[in-house]
Order: sequence, then C-alpha cells, then structure tokens
Amino acid sequence: MAFLDIRKLSKNYGSTVALDGVDLSVNAGEFVTLLGPSGSGKTTLLMSIAGFTQPDDGGIVIDGVDVTDVDPEDRDFGVVFQGYALFPHMTVADNIAFPLKVRKWAKADISAKVEEMLSLVGLDKLAGRKPRELSGGQQQRAALARALSFGPRILLLDEPLSALDRSLREIMQRELKRLHKETGVTFIFVTHDQEEAYAMSDRIAVFHNGRIVQMGAPRDIYRKPASLFVAGFLGGNNIVTARYLSAEHKLKLFGDYLPAPPQFDPAQHGNGEVTLWVRPENLSFSEAGGGYSFPVTVLDISFTGSSERVVVGTVDGQDLMIQASSESAAGLQIGQQIRCSFNPGAIGFLASD
Ligand SMILES: Nc1ncnc2c1ncn2[C@@H]1O[C@H](COP(=O)(O)OP(=O)(O)O)[C@@H](O)[C@H]1O
Ligand SMILES: [Mg+2]
Repeated sequence: MAFLDIRKLSKNYGSTVALDGVDLSVNAGEFVTLLGPSGSGKTTLLMSIAGFTQPDDGGIVIDGVDVTDVDPEDRDFGVVFQGYALFPHMTVADNIAFPLKVRKWAKADISAKVEEMLSLVGLDKLAGRKPRELSGGQQQRAALARALSFGPRILLLDEPLSALDRSLREIMQRELKRLHKETGVTFIFVTHDQEEAYAMSDRIAVFHNGRIVQMGAPRDIYRKPASLFVAGFLGGNNIVTARYLSAEHKLKLFGDYLPAPPQFDPAQHGNGEVTLWVRPENLSFSEAGGGYSFPVTVLDISFTGSSERVVVGTVDGQDLMIQASSESAAGLQIGQQIRCSFNPGAIGFLASD
C-alpha cells in the first residue's frame, strides 16, 4: 500500500471545478511533482493534502490512516510556498526553531536540531540574520530548513523556486534533490516548468483542468505523452496531422506516403484524420535519409546557443521545428527548398482529449 493515498478528491469553487476526482498514490521517500498550467488545480491539491483546504469529496490516507478531517497542525507535514513566508521579525535560527517550540521540544534538543538544519542548508554563518538581510536563495534555504526541522512525514512545496533567477534556480534544484536524498522525506513538489519537473522528479503527475491526465517517470512521459494536451504542454513537440488510408495501411503525411509504422493502431489513433508528434531533435536535413523523407521550404533559422532552431514548411502547409547542430544547419538560407527526414519509429500518435 502507498504511503500517501489520495482517493477521488474533488473541490469546487462555485462553478469552478478546481479538483475533479483526483487519485494519486505516493510511495514513502518518493519525489513526486505536480506539473500543469496555471489554474489546473495543483495548489488546491497541495493545500488539501496539507489540510488548509477542505475537499468537497474524496479522502486522503497517510500511512494507512484517514487524515481527511485531521487539522493541518496534526498532520505533521512541512510546507514551503513560493513567497517563503518566513517570520520577518525572527532570526533564521528562531524561524527554524519555531516549529520545534510549538511541538514543545526540550531546549537542548531545539539548539542541536537548529544547528543541524543550519548546516544541512548551508546557513551556519547567517543564523542571526533576519529574513530581510538574506538573498532570495538564502531565504528559500531558511524556509526549507524550517519546514524540515521537526521531521515532517511529507514535505509539500508549492512553486518554491519560481521567484528565483535561472542560475539560482538551478542551484536550488540540486540543493532540493540533495535534501531529499539526505533526509529521506517524501517530497510533493509543484511547478509549471517542464524542465524543472524533469530534472527533479521520480515521477510526474501532469495536471489539466483539475485532473491528473498522465502520471509517470520523466523519461516515460517525455517519450510517450498520452494525449494531445500532454504532448503540447510538455513543449517543443511538433504536432501535425496526417490522413490514414486503410486500404494501403499508409499515412498521407507532408504530401507523401508513409507506410503506417508498428506503433500506429487505427483503432486507437483514429481512422481518417490522425494527429501525431515529431520531436525537433528527431528531424534531420538530408537528401534521402534512412527514414521517411519529404520536401520542405526553410522558413526561419534562429540560433539558440547550444543548437540552431530551423522552421520549415511542408508541401501540405504544416510547419515543423527542427533542432540541429550548427554544422548541419550551416549554409541554409530562408526560402531554400531542401529535404527533411525522420525515423518512423521516433514519431508518436495521439488520441485527443
Ligand atoms: N479560494 C478560491 N476561490 C475561488 N476559486 C479558486 C480558489 N482557489 C483556487 N480557485 C480556482 O480553482 C482553480 C484551480 O486553482 P489552483 O489550484 O490555484 O491552480 P494552480 O495551482 O494549478 O495554478 C482555478 O480556476 C482557480 O481560479
Ligand atoms: Mg498554484
């Protein structure tokens, strides 16, 4: 049985459906990320787990005990928000000590624990500072130390890094992963940033309209988006349409005919108009590459630092984004007619949702 079991959780705000029968099971010690666009219900689920939001329906079971009606302070969960929410008039050390005082720890135990937490998050030298005397990253470290000091059963994190600049965010991502490993605490982390979710998580739950529309390991979700929404939201995918010709078991795609690859199932993926995705890194420029090749016109070329992003138009009026090395894109001109190819094994077919 899972450590945390969320069953058919629902929450409405008037006519807004914030959670629509969410089921989620999290194992002890797991790092699970709730990923989805703004308004998809991530915070509502996290606040329901924390006990700050009362669901209309469904239940939350932790370690075999139903906590749906248990007060937040009795759930023993740590919570970290985007805005840190440190007590401004208290020093870092006093902030970290606060949950321990509330729990009536002995003085000596509190001092020892505060020392340990300060060193865990690298704030030993800043123990006496007030929050306003800390940088954003340092405040976030202090907030983490406070949320972890009392040994919570679960740490809930709601977009804790989104206020930080990119380089600091990457440092804090590594820091969070290290804290997760060293403490062994179960982490439930909310973000709207796909790359952050990929980088951090054991498993990702993708949210859409108050539901979990896909759950899985980062690589599995990336390789096999379950729906048009996931394929689109996970970013970077070319989503295009083709026509299935059942008599020949072929797809008419980009003005040419592609024998239907093994992963295409007419019963599942539609008969007639078919939606599929192709990743930018799986498309290449070639005269007649090993896979399926077709003519295109170069529409745009932009340098992204690590690679070139080339947009091409197909003869049936669809745009494709291609990620290519600077060497393979060298000499391309806007308006040029070239051929493009991909390995049919690398494309995916979608059922719309
Ligand atoms: N306290 C509230 N009152 C009314 N509507 C709310 C409240 N909290 C959230 N909502 C609505 O519920 C939906 C889900 O919100 P939320 O869980 O905050 O999404 P996310 O965290 O994914 O951005 C949104 O449509 C939001 O406007
Ligand atoms: Mg939110």
